Amino acid sequence: MEYIDLRSDTVTLPTQEMRDAMYKALVGDDVYGEDPTVKELEEKAADIIGKEDAMFVTSGTQGNQVSVMTHTHHGDEIILEEKCHIITYEVGGIGYLSGVQAKTIRGINGIMDPKDVLSSIRTDDIHFPKTSLICLENTHNRAGGIVIPLSNMKEIYEIAKAHNIPVHLDGARIFNAATYLNVDVKEIARYTDSVMFCLSKGLCAPVGSIVAGSKEFIKRARKYRKMLGGGLRQAGILAASGIVALEKMTKRLAEDHENARLLAEGLNNIKGINVDMSTVQTNIVMSDISATGLTGAQLSSKLLDYGIKVNGGNDYNVRFVTHYYIKKDHIDKVLHAISAILKEQ
Ligand SMILES: Cc1ncc(COP(=O)(O)O)c(C=O)c1O
Repeated sequence: MEYIDLRSDTVTLPTQEMRDAMYKALVGDDVYGEDPTVKELEEKAADIIGKEDAMFVTSGTQGNQVSVMTHTHHGDEIILEEKCHIITYEVGGIGYLSGVQAKTIRGINGIMDPKDVLSSIRTDDIHFPKTSLICLENTHNRAGGIVIPLSNMKEIYEIAKAHNIPVHLDGARIFNAATYLNVDVKEIARYTDSVMFCLSKGLCAPVGSIVAGSKEFIKRARKYRKMLGGGLRQAGILAASGIVALEKMTKRLAEDHENARLLAEGLNNIKGINVDMSTVQTNIVMSDISATGLTGAQLSSKLLDYGIKVNGGNDYNVRFVTHYYIKKDHIDKVLHAISAILKEQ
């Protein structure tokens, strides 16, 4: 059975063009700096994002962790939004790998108040750790793909600069943010010192993310990547798909956003389901199904019988994520299936 898979944009398979590019890719040993396709991807990525240099990493998690390691020292403190990916889903890596502690800030829809960031920066006191990094996430995954406004990023960046603290952006879906804001992706990256973005989510590459920053930062980051086992050999096979991702797939994300909107509007027309439309900005739809009497896990298990996969836990929220392999007629099928399930209740 072919499923309509709305669990995540990470489920996307490489396109035929990617497979062809991977097959034909020129490769070499990248630890020796000899893989021409990795070099091409890294140069292209740096240019697109507006940073001096870039580095191919195996995953978004590896990219974030290497970035935190490169910016900080053991015993430092870093500021992050409390529901961000680095805090929630990276296995406590910042404590284990970087030896830093987290000062988390409760954001509204993932958006931190710059005043809270300012008041969280440690003063020079013998008792305090040093604040050595501020992390942002745009789009914000757990907030439902919300875009952090540029004005907010700018304000936080200016506070950071005034205190000589670098800013790292988890921009796993930065191209979704740029599409929503209708700006060049550089306009987002300019308020950061380092950026991680994923090639393997809505952009469909099978593996890989990018870390970008200054030449000096990337030089040091390469050592930490190696330490974590991320020094790959003939990685051009993977990088070839990343080049297609950057050149082609970044240009079509508005279609995913449109489908997410259609889905959210349709869900709101179903009795018992509520979606806050102000949060539906990119390709993620967070729905509250509490009034249906079903939990997220129950609805997702019933949807499996209709060939539909969604992420529903034991609470009353269900997350839907649109991507390249979700077309408009799939949205109609999903809405029909949910209506049919609720009628049977
Ligand atoms: C915002 C965000 N950052 C980082 C990651 C980690 O990416 P990966 O799964 O490639 O480690 C994800 C994955 O979903 C994400 O949503």
